[in-house]
Amino acid sequence: MQKYLSKRTQIIKLSPIREIFEMASQTPGLVRLEVGQPDFPTPTHILEAVRDALQEGHIGYSSAAGMLETRQALAKRLLEDYGFLFDAEKEAVICNGASAAIYLTIRSIIDPGDEVLRPDPGWAQYDGVILNADGFPVPYPLIPEKGFALDFDALQKLVTSRTKAIIINSPSNPTGSVITQDQLKVLLEFAIKNDILIISDEAYDKIIYDREHVPLSLLEKEFDRVVTVGSCSKNYAMCGWRIGYAIGPASIMNQVMKFQSLVNLCPNYISEKAAFAALNSPQTAVAEMRDEYKRRREIFIKGLNEIPGVKCAMPEGAFYAFADVSAYNMDDWDFTRYLINEVKVTCIPGSSFGDKGKGFVRFSYASSQDNLNEGLRRMKQHLPNLLK
Ligand SMILES: Cc1ncc(COP(=O)(O)O)c(C=O)c1O
Repeated sequence: MQKYLSKRTQIIKLSPIREIFEMASQTPGLVRLEVGQPDFPTPTHILEAVRDALQEGHIGYSSAAGMLETRQALAKRLLEDYGFLFDAEKEAVICNGASAAIYLTIRSIIDPGDEVLRPDPGWAQYDGVILNADGFPVPYPLIPEKGFALDFDALQKLVTSRTKAIIINSPSNPTGSVITQDQLKVLLEFAIKNDILIISDEAYDKIIYDREHVPLSLLEKEFDRVVTVGSCSKNYAMCGWRIGYAIGPASIMNQVMKFQSLVNLCPNYISEKAAFAALNSPQTAVAEMRDEYKRRREIFIKGLNEIPGVKCAMPEGAFYAFADVSAYNMDDWDFTRYLINEVKVTCIPGSSFGDKGKGFVRFSYASSQDNLNEGLRRMKQHLPNLLK
């Protein structure tokens, strides 16, 4: 019944990553390194807080912006961790994941035909979200030779009178790169000069290895140009709970809350209790998980670089290795299919994240050390044959 479908529905494509999931679920004996979520269970103290909430039994609607106590716990956490100060009552909305926070923010700011700059390579969902608000995604290139840094000359050339916002993502999915504080400062100047809003996707803020995360909002003089998006999914191994947040000027947060109330009325009450416990308790589990990702990173990146034809820079955050496999003389989709079908290891083709990801593949090292070692063993055994 195509006739009932909107034009918008037909231009938005689901992420091509689904094809990999299909292939992977039909192929037995794979080492799964494509999955972008922590392999740890949600920490016990969070589960216990939820058990207590269930026993209380009062499970009703919360506010459309999320419970004030969750927003206050978020404010306390970001103040303690970063010195990031905002008004929990007016400047934050708890959402169903960072996904919803980005979706609702875009919905709140985009008119038909507006353009939004998004990183290339960057998280595959941004394009669909922008198109769904009748906007146009405009990919901006990151420079692989400079650790996927921003290229401000290229950025400036992409700005038009319709440019409304830019999305940045640090630490990055898929590259694992982190935007330096100097680059963030230049970015703010760029946004002020061109009068555009910045949506700063900081969903991996606690998974950073060799330096401290700096929320972009900290560098902002007036609290009016940046919407910060964050999440409990990756930091607290809470992907399935679906809790994230948007923090920004009250004028935008009011709209985010309005759209949230249209779609969900409010976030899931029980999940908010879990998020409250996650934010409001000692962050030991977060540090332990990060340290384990760091150990895995050392093993995995070193191993990848020992494979002839594979080059991989050391990621500074998140839990992804973005490896250059262009030496193999096949495109990244064919390489991925070969890896799955012949080597029995999964990854995601780099071009799923944008044109600039061509010739790369993304592995997730949120997987046990045994799995990572087995994946490396298989690749070391098979891949050199491809170069002959
Ligand atoms: C860069 C980035 N932003 C946002 C999200 C969404 O996270 P969630 O909706 O689980 O909070 C993801 C998930 O993979 C991501 O990689």
